[in-house]
Amino acid sequence: SRLPALLEAMPKAELHMHIEGSLEPEMIFRLAQRNGVKLSYASVEELRKAYAFTDLQSFLDIYYAGASVLLTEQDFYDMARAYLDRAVADNVVRSEMFFDPQTHTERGVAMETVINGLHRACVDAEREQGISAALILCFLRHLSEDSALQTLEAALPFRDRFIGVGLDSSEVGNPPEKFARVFARCRELGLHLVAHAGEEGPPEYVWSALDVLHVERVDHGVQSVRDPALMQRLAKDRIALTVCPLSNEKLCVFPRLADHNIRQLLDAGLVATVNSDDPAYFGGYMNTNFTRLFAEAPGLTARHAYQLAFNSLEASFAERADKERWQ
Ligand code: ADE
Ligand code: ZN
Repeated sequence: SRLPALLEAMPKAELHMHIEGSLEPEMIFRLAQRNGVKLSYASVEELRKAYAFTDLQSFLDIYYAGASVLLTEQDFYDMARAYLDRAVADNVVRSEMFFDPQTHTERGVAMETVINGLHRACVDAEREQGISAALILCFLRHLSEDSALQTLEAALPFRDRFIGVGLDSSEVGNPPEKFARVFARCRELGLHLVAHAGEEGPPEYVWSALDVLHVERVDHGVQSVRDPALMQRLAKDRIALTVCPLSNEKLCVFPRLADHNIRQLLDAGLVATVNSDDPAYFGGYMNTNFTRLFAEAPGLTARHAYQLAFNSLEASFAERADKERWQ
């Protein structure tokens, strides 16, 4: 059978996507108008033209500007429902969605507005479309650990509405160990733990995500290939890497998709997965990540495709019974 058809039809889990990164330019303008927010771009076309990134920071600046249109619970609900609709169309059966509360609370939006809107979207999508959806609260690593601790405190009244915590934003210069205390507290609370590491940052950041923060999965982690001992550790402990091919291309982590190292990760026995990261900014949702990767990166076969889909379900934080049903 045709490989693209297999890639599209496979049941899969998405384990690395930022819900604020699913805001399409059209929705940014619609919400700006609805809320009376002034944008520094005149049109959808002008905004889309600004999506020419050179590195992570050049993206983050535009991503945080886009998120400034989100004010009401309905805004967060509409954004998440639109993403979950797209995920269902790509045969995503489980999605674990990152959200960045500090991006909103720093602008005066209440924590409960953010969490209630996103949670209601998860519940409704699950009931109406059958997708299993969960939330992971991310701390912004360019802010202080005290700010992360305050964010955790503000979120604890809604403890039953998110399954874990993560760490995102500007990586280089903000190593995982900066957040040792807040992650220790989250661990005591029984939250799942993940962190972005080894996207642009060195293998040392992946080591400290594992040994200081005790994460269960590493988001990106593609720089791990530079350290053979780290590769062995990731394989031995079956730590999943949530890899984002189109993101890596757009943010110039690899010069071209053809140069991506995901086949090397899989062939070394690592639990790699494919994810969309910020699909509205990086050129596509899950199935576009799969089909472009397999069309452009050499040597990827149907066996790799099956392994990636299997890994995504296995590495998800879903109930064992759900995983077995999907696999
Ligand atoms: N926030 C949204 N997307 C991100 C990425 N790829 N890396 C770090 N922080 C992010
Ligand atoms: Zn990310």
